[in-house]
Amino acid sequence: MKILVVGGGGREHAITTALSRGPDVELYSVMAKINPGIVALARGILSVKETRVKEITDFAITSGIDYAFIGPEAPLEAGLVDSLENRDIACIGPVRGAARLETDKGFCRTMMEKHGINGCPRHSIFTSAEDACDFIDAYDGDLAIKPIGLTGGKGVRIMGEHLDGEGAKEYVRSLGGDVVLEERLIGEEFTLQAFVDGTHLVPMPLVQDHKRAFEGDVGPNTGGMGSYSMPDHMLPFVTPRDYEQALLIMKDAVTSMYHEGFPYRGILYGQFMNTAEGPKVIEFNARFGDPEAMNVLSLLSSDFTEIICRMVEGSLSASHVTFEQKASVCKYLVPEGYPDAPKTDKPLTIGETGQALRYYANVVERDGTLYTQTSRTLAFVGLGETLEGAEGVAEAAAAAVRGAVRHRRDIGTAGLLQQRIDHMRELR
Ligand code: AMP
Ligand code: GLY
Repeated sequence: MKILVVGGGGREHAITTALSRGPDVELYSVMAKINPGIVALARGILSVKETRVKEITDFAITSGIDYAFIGPEAPLEAGLVDSLENRDIACIGPVRGAARLETDKGFCRTMMEKHGINGCPRHSIFTSAEDACDFIDAYDGDLAIKPIGLTGGKGVRIMGEHLDGEGAKEYVRSLGGDVVLEERLIGEEFTLQAFVDGTHLVPMPLVQDHKRAFEGDVGPNTGGMGSYSMPDHMLPFVTPRDYEQALLIMKDAVTSMYHEGFPYRGILYGQFMNTAEGPKVIEFNARFGDPEAMNVLSLLSSDFTEIICRMVEGSLSASHVTFEQKASVCKYLVPEGYPDAPKTDKPLTIGETGQALRYYANVVERDGTLYTQTSRTLAFVGLGETLEGAEGVAEAAAAAVRGAVRHRRDIGTAGLLQQRIDHMRELR
């Protein structure tokens, strides 16, 4: 079975690694930058930007690809799945119309409202900067300001955190006015990812990501500095009732996309804010999270290739999907200065990594040496019977890297977890 994985980040290294465990698999890759981990697993590589739909489609046809797995969102928006499916290549990833759940924040909110899906924050959609600024002036409270389109996870600014009212208006003007303004949600964030085959949805363990650059959740938003999951696949600040509500929201989104005429096939990622009133949707993504993919795929114990075949056939059920009952902790190393002024092209040496799993991201290898680039460099994942054990494995490996990189030592620690639990108790 020939599988093409599109994308060259840590998430795609995790996807490729998990697929490589399947029987009789030959892997191919499309990546703009050569990921040293994916190179080691792929039989054939096309190194072009992941949005070059025609070149990628031609490459898939000449390579005889059976299944294409789309890692990032940009190729979904560019219509890569539409193009590949037109040529009878089965895809894991939604067609462009279904990917709007992620790529068009206005569409997402309108769809939730139209179909009466719970967990939709109060919001207004604008196309004019002046209207949006008037709304900000009249609004009593803080808002989240979201550009309508894709921003690589870095476009959202929160009043009261990053901006005051004047800053908010300036930001809206700089975006040209195409924004969603949304009530600022207070609570604890969690990620629920699921495999979706068009109608059935099978959930994966809950994960918590850490968007802020620095320890203690301060500094600018990043693509995600690291993440953890618990042995019971839940999180201690998410009750079973919160979980059921979040899962129902995801299922309703899948059903609604079906009724909209865009059946959803691929990975559905729900980012939730667990608030005093229960989970609210921060956003949906039409793909795995990065880093969250590294947590769940490192724990996946069933055959990933069978899961993707069933997603394409429309015959997926929970009995095909099992995860180890372990904790996972993922820690990203990033260039010093990331995200504002990353130190690029600096050499790294990796020390004693013990049992940690290693996933490469935005890093190049030249003559056997690894060099930083502008984005997240590489990640270590520790697995363990307890969170403490998993954190120890990931932390020891991350701490053993030498070079102009840093990581968040606090991710997956008992102290940080307790803060989340206390925060949730305070809110309720
Ligand atoms: P996004 O790009 O939509 O993932 O948003 C980036 C980050 O902004 C999220 O991880 C949240 O921390 C924050 N955020 C987004 N929307 C809201 C909201 N309505 N209220 C509070 N924080 C938000
Ligand atoms: N970790 C957040 C994302 O992938 O969007």
